[in-house]
Amino acid sequence: MRLLDACARKPVDATPVWLMRQAGRYLPEYRAIREKMSFVEMCRRPDVAAEVTLQPLRRFELDAAIVFADILLPLEPMGIGFHFSKDDGPVIERPIRRARDLEGVHSIDAASDLQYVMDTIKLVRHELDATIPLIGFSGAPFTLASYIVEGGHSRNYAHVKKMMYEDPVTFGRLMSVISEVVVDYLKAQIAAGAQVVQLFDSWVGWLGPFDYELLVLPHVRYVIDHVKGLGAPVIYFGNGASAMLDLVGKAGADVYGVDWRIELDRAWDQLGDVAVQGNLDPITLLGPPKAIEERVADVVRRAGGRPGHIFNLGHGLIPQVPPDNVKYLVDAVHRLSAAPI
Ligand code: CP3
Repeated sequence: MRLLDACARKPVDATPVWLMRQAGRYLPEYRAIREKMSFVEMCRRPDVAAEVTLQPLRRFELDAAIVFADILLPLEPMGIGFHFSKDDGPVIERPIRRARDLEGVHSIDAASDLQYVMDTIKLVRHELDATIPLIGFSGAPFTLASYIVEGGHSRNYAHVKKMMYEDPVTFGRLMSVISEVVVDYLKAQIAAGAQVVQLFDSWVGWLGPFDYELLVLPHVRYVIDHVKGLGAPVIYFGNGASAMLDLVGKAGADVYGVDWRIELDRAWDQLGDVAVQGNLDPITLLGPPKAIEERVADVVRRAGGRPGHIFNLGHGLIPQVPPDNVKYLVDAVHRLSAAPI
């Protein structure tokens, strides 16, 4: 399997490609289901979630599926209520801002508390072509903490940073509980059949290197240490973190996701002897085929035929993308990487 071979830095016949948020609103067949139920309901119905996971694989020659779920799903069993509002995205009902807010927040038993995710994984594995691996995922500790403390989207991460500076003990306790949850959640996904797992650290790029190294990286390392060696390679994606890849690269992952703010070869030089995933600007997919082609070719050229490249976007695909452009991109990755460089 191309993706698993690339994770192990073995040679492949063409660069494997999958796309963060490859399932979702840009697909009319997704919107048709979404009209009938809420997003969280879709996640909780394994038959629906499995169907939506497979939708992009029917259209495009993707080299991996990623289970349809969300990084926020573990919050509810932890005792942290949330919902998705129509305009503002996720809303945490009672954000955690001080020590006493942590009372009642607890670890989970993912296999039973999030059984619907495990059932989705089993269903997808059953229905998916055996040559295509399935990726499981979780939010990384800081990204989950930032939602839990900020209460939703944030412009400057003021609440979570204030907690880090003012009450590092409470912040550390929150990060530790989250880390336990993430370990348990990823282990359960691997046991259910996920063949690769990705940790999404979507908002870690808003931290400076000092805070990242002191207060966040040890928790990322803890999670990866406890999940590695279970037979599923671990991908760690730090969005916006391209200015501190020297630190990110200490997380212990098998594969590092790279955003589009740095050239792939420069990122790879900093990360060293690991596999690397990325790193096309997701907005490229709004451009015409010629523009997509040029930028795919640049990423492939910078990978330079080194084993261990997984092609992806530098962050998630947005709902406005025309599906035909995704097809063009996926085919271009295979065509350009199979040709001699
Ligand atoms: O990649 C995939 O195809 C698998 C599914 C997936 C979703 N969310 C589905 C989703 C994955 C891997 C995620 C991860 C996720 N969720 C992240 C990390 C990746 C990233 O983008 O940085 C984050 C930060 C979230 C939190 C989240 N979920 C937000 C902020 C939102 C609302 C914003 C938005 O795009 O509407 C969601 C909702 C969400 N998660 C949707 C999907 C398809 C849209 C739901 C809808 O149909 O209304």
